[in-house]
Amino acid sequence: MRSVAQGRDRAFSAIEWRESEAHARMPLGEDGSIGSRGTDSDPLVSFGPWRIPCRSADDTVSLQNRLRFLKEYVSDPSTVGALAPSSGALASALCEPFRRFQKPARVLEVGAGTGAVTRHLGALLREKDELDICEIQPRFADILRRDVLSLPEFAEGGRSGRVRLLVQPVQEIAHENHYDFIISGLPLTSFDLQLVEEVFDSFRRCLKRTGVLSYFEYVAMRRTSRTFSVGQSRKRVRSVSRYLTARIRDHQFARRTVLRNFPPAYARYLKFESEEVSVGG
Ligand SMILES: C[S@@+](CC[C@H](N)C(=O)[O-])C[C@H]1O[C@@H](n2cnc3c(N)ncnc32)[C@H](O)[C@@H]1O
Repeated sequence: MRSVAQGRDRAFSAIEWRESEAHARMPLGEDGSIGSRGTDSDPLVSFGPWRIPCRSADDTVSLQNRLRFLKEYVSDPSTVGALAPSSGALASALCEPFRRFQKPARVLEVGAGTGAVTRHLGALLREKDELDICEIQPRFADILRRDVLSLPEFAEGGRSGRVRLLVQPVQEIAHENHYDFIISGLPLTSFDLQLVEEVFDSFRRCLKRTGVLSYFEYVAMRRTSRTFSVGQSRKRVRSVSRYLTARIRDHQFARRTVLRNFPPAYARYLKFESEEVSVGG
């Protein structure tokens, strides 16, 4: 994992950070503020300069794996939720908070699919980081084992148990307050409301108090689905959309628009830590 650590160091050198412990992993906004909350209609809240030319996952997801991805989508569209794996640009955006984190970190990737994001994570791992990769679909898990976790950057982590593949639904992960970062590729807008609620409960439970959740959704997808769906489907889309809008309003501190993805996507960054309680005198 040596070359990857170097990549992460280079990335950090170009980016401003507050020194204080409390804000150690929070990026500076353009005005020097430590992020801010955003809503769907807010302009992009910047993470600051984008300095790192990241290796593109587009180059590394083989045509064969793209076809397998498509096949899985056709057989179970609501679980897979996308026609194609994420682009390198989107994978890079989702990994950005972890990339900027200086200390050893525990990371959970959820919904790894054919490993578009996993490969980026591999390129960022340092010796003391821990990575759990959660994927519900055994056929995707086979691809991950064979084509991704066999790469040199995962070799030592796999041997020592710091990199683990968890073939199970994220809702069943046992860890409490364990992870510094959760990076999710779950197709939340394809799920029923109850499943989305369960998934968010797991995210909250698994994240450390100051941990960061990154996930993506396709630009305008919710609005388009609301407009064109009918009957039960419309009801489902509306309820999920309302739920997500509330989580975004309450917990999102930054958002990045990624145009170099098909379809273009928002990478969203959320924190669930409770508000500071001021003790009056
Ligand atoms: C849209 S694909 C994302 C794949 C990959 N991360 C990417 O960005 O290209 C969603 C993935 O989430 C997986 N998935 C769906 N529900 C899940 C759950 N409850 N727990 C874990 N993985 C799940 C699917 O099998 C699929 O691989």
